[in-house]
Amino acid sequence: MAGRAGESFDVQEAERIALAEVAHARAFYGEDGAGATPLLPILHALQEAFGYIDPAAQPMIARLLNISQAEVRGVISFYHDFRTEPGACATLKLCMAEACQARGSSRIVDYMKARHDLRLGEDAPDGKLAVEAVYCLGNCALGPAALLGDALIGALDEARVDELVTEARR
Ligand code: FES
Repeated sequence: MAGRAGESFDVQEAERIALAEVAHARAFYGEDGAGATPLLPILHALQEAFGYIDPAAQPMIARLLNISQAEVRGVISFYHDFRTEPGACATLKLCMAEACQARGSSRIVDYMKARHDLRLGEDAPDGKLAVEAVYCLGNCALGPAALLGDALIGALDEARVDELVTEARR
């Protein structure tokens, strides 16, 4: 049975998920297609299934894709969204581009600092939620915009910040 975010990491189940992504890529691109190395889809699928990508899965991924473990490790560490520990920090990506600034993203930054001790670009004090700046999420008309995981948030205000922080720290 497929894992769910928060379940303990199972390398056998992870391999089944990875093989499904390989098969999917081959069906789409063909055996020799240039895009048939689905490292990112595999990593996303594992993180979705388990909530993180256990380093124990890296040799298996490298073997399946015929690439080095260093390459797998490099991609995981390059993308901040990939986590390698259970319960690791989530990141709220707050848009600080012009349209969202005009709609109050700086006010949100001040509020998060004063009310929740969350500072833009710094590690989360409790290890649960960090906040980083991004520049345009394509949701300019509904600023201040933010992204938490896959969820796009519009018209972010103080009450919604409180909810997000409470959920993350639960
Ligand atoms: S400026 Fe914030 S979403 Fe575009």
